[in-house]
Amino acid sequence: MLNFQLTEEQLAVQKAARDFAQSELLPGVIDRDTEARFPTEQIQKMGALGFMGMMVDPNFGGGGMDTISYVIAMEELSKIDASASVSMSVNNSLVCWGLEKYGTEEQKQNYLTKLATGEVLGAFCLSEPEAGSDATSQQTTAVLQEDYYLLNGTKNWITNGSSASIYLVIAQTDPSKGHKGISAFIVEKGMDGFVVGKKEDKLGIRGSDTHSLLFIDVKVPVRNRIGAEGFGFTFAMETLNGGRIGIAAQALGIASGAYELALAYSKERKTFGKPISQHQAIQFKLADMATQIEAARLLVYKSAWLKDQGKEYAQASAMAKLYASEVAMNVTVEAVQVHGGYGYVKEYHVERLMRDAKITQIYEGTSEIQRIVISRGVLK
Ligand code: CAA
Repeated sequence: MLNFQLTEEQLAVQKAARDFAQSELLPGVIDRDTEARFPTEQIQKMGALGFMGMMVDPNFGGGGMDTISYVIAMEELSKIDASASVSMSVNNSLVCWGLEKYGTEEQKQNYLTKLATGEVLGAFCLSEPEAGSDATSQQTTAVLQEDYYLLNGTKNWITNGSSASIYLVIAQTDPSKGHKGISAFIVEKGMDGFVVGKKEDKLGIRGSDTHSLLFIDVKVPVRNRIGAEGFGFTFAMETLNGGRIGIAAQALGIASGAYELALAYSKERKTFGKPISQHQAIQFKLADMATQIEAARLLVYKSAWLKDQGKEYAQASAMAKLYASEVAMNVTVEAVQVHGGYGYVKEYHVERLMRDAKITQIYEGTSEIQRIVISRGVLK
């Protein structure tokens, strides 16, 4: 059965996210971008509304919703504020998902509930100065000493870097085993030797706090390891398969937000005696934007649906992220063009969306990484 109809619940989520974005994210979004200020209050409200743990079991404080609802919410919030939505995506997909799927009962009781309700924020720490795309080259080490691991290393470009309280950290426990010697750990802010490092000054998603993190002889209890020793790389890859659905939805939202602004502007702005929407040059741009966005939305929904159905979704999520992020880039550039000179100034929002779009081609795997994942699936 092929059904393109959203359920009542999914439509309600869409409306709630749309209303929240207009009433709570839009005011101040330009200032937060300019000042690179984290949307602290807005994220707290998103937690109260259930956006920070949408798919988590209600027994652990989550919304118990499907992935389709999650991507719908991500799209709506990302139309207005991609800095807030990346925080939400990381918390939902990269932190809550892995803890719920692979955490012990104790880990879920101690960490998942707080994360899912938005009481605290989580961060996912895989990338390193020398291990971005080449994620197997982890230099961070975790050496077992009695009932704890001694964690040492540096992580880079960590979303929610300073605002998080709970960090999932990937580290080498046995370098002789390559990627099979990598493990995953829960690290808490405040553990001795854990230092939040430099904040990055970024092109886009400037409201999001992206930091390097330093671990200097941090004692991480053995009970904070997620899964068995050596499971960390698979854990990270599986987590990212789902994370890419969230980022694809974010890219879709950035694109559709810019498109909606360009469409509205084209009906208001007059040149040569008529609204610019009456010029074919603009009509063709709007037609291309609408078509690309619709195609991206279908890929995003399909990957979310596959995940909800318990089917294989690694390839579909990579396709969704690859395509939606390219659409975000194309559409935002065109939205600026439709706005002409007004598009180049902050007040009209599209220049910010254009800057925000670029990161969707880079984080949670560059477009080149998505092509690796897709081609492996194709050639299997
Ligand atoms: N799903 C599940 N398992 C996977 C997988 C996937 N998509 N990709 C690889 N694996 C598994 C393989 O099956 C293999 O396991 P076995 O040995 O048990 O068979 C293991 O992982 C190693 O795989 P490869 O030999 O293929 O490893 P590789 O080094 O050739 O390449 C890669 C793997 C796909 C390039 C991987 O390194 C990768 O995805 N890199 C990108 C990392 C990334 O996305 N980083 C983003 C950082 S997080 C972030 O941005 C968060 C944020 O703050 C917003």
